Amino acid sequence: MSQHGTEATRAALGGRISYAQSWKDPAVLLGGLRVNADDDVLSVCASGDNSFALAIAGARSVTAIDLSGPQIALAKLKLAGAKHLNLARFHSLLGLSGLGQRIYLYHLLRPHLDEATVAFWDANEALIREGLLGCGKFEHYLSLFRDRMLPLVHRQSTVDEFLDLADLDAQRKFFVERWNNRRWRALFRVFFSQTVMARSGRSAAQFAHVEGAVSGAFLERTSHVMQEIPIASNPYLQWILAGKYRDLEHSQPYLSAEGHKALGIAADRIEFVHDDLITHLAGVEAGTYSAFNLSDVPEYLSEAESETLLRACVAASGVGARLAYWNLLVPRWRPPSMAKMLSRDTALGERLIRQDRAFVYGAFQVETVECSTFSH
Ligand SMILES: C[S@@+](CC[C@H](N)C(=O)[O-])C[C@H]1O[C@@H](n2cnc3c(N)ncnc32)[C@H](O)[C@@H]1O
Repeated sequence: MSQHGTEATRAALGGRISYAQSWKDPAVLLGGLRVNADDDVLSVCASGDNSFALAIAGARSVTAIDLSGPQIALAKLKLAGAKHLNLARFHSLLGLSGLGQRIYLYHLLRPHLDEATVAFWDANEALIREGLLGCGKFEHYLSLFRDRMLPLVHRQSTVDEFLDLADLDAQRKFFVERWNNRRWRALFRVFFSQTVMARSGRSAAQFAHVEGAVSGAFLERTSHVMQEIPIASNPYLQWILAGKYRDLEHSQPYLSAEGHKALGIAADRIEFVHDDLITHLAGVEAGTYSAFNLSDVPEYLSEAESETLLRACVAASGVGARLAYWNLLVPRWRPPSMAKMLSRDTALGERLIRQDRAFVYGAFQVETVECSTFSH
């Protein structure tokens, strides 16, 4: 079986931190997977944030997997911070407070980290100085948007006024009357075009299976979130527009005071695997996992590879196991050939995607294993 998609992804993303924070809403993921204390979850690591959310939600074990070593190093450093730093210091390491001393904090954590993680961070202390949540390629791209593009469209006072709105009707009115002007739409279309994103924010490999215009779809989804989801509880819009979260109680679960404590306690239930999903799954026994967070990896793969991945999930789990994944720009769900093996809960997926505060995604798939590969 060709590994073209996985290999292209490894070549593009394997050596860098692309995502310093999760751009996928944990509330959507948790609503799809409904994990409990009997669950062993395989979860795409990326920034670590959604794997942390699954552990805090009570999964028995979470195996965070990524083909990128730097992404794993990032998640391990965050996790060590949650375990060994108090809240103020943890927030400083992440870049959420002005306390500073980030390199000093890293050196406090260094003895708790493995060799590969230390080697990465020793060579990349400059990223730590930025604050961990801002250090990814995608976050750099967003800060370019915030610092260079947005001021060409809206004054800082307009951005602040938008972010201050506490009522959805007022938000809709503000969007229509003050925000959604011709210049906003024009600059958005350029900055979030496939060409600019592939060069600066994502990578060409991440668009390999995308057909059709990208910026129009993103503009439509952004217009939806700006009118239909309260900005006061939307950490994603807050970060994009202001470079910070306004309310840590409504951001990633591990960032609140309670969440930081819960993650410190859950830390020992999280393991890391530096590998690609298909290779890892091929080496584990049936029944190893009962739930899967596949991020939006299926759309980085061809249809054939995507089916290989889904079949590998079925083979590594058992009846009743759940799979959840997003579609950003490519429609992917279990193919008709797997209809007996995996049932799709389209109603749940559609309900959850409508509430998705991360808003750029087109669909969310929730599937349940009905019978194992070998029964048919
Ligand atoms: C799939 S990306 C999602 C990013 C974001 N949603 C987007 O599309 O721009 C999240 C993480 O998945 C990892 N990844 C991609 N393909 C993978 C694979 N086949 N196995 C394991 N990790 C993979 C990447 O290294 C990255 O850290």
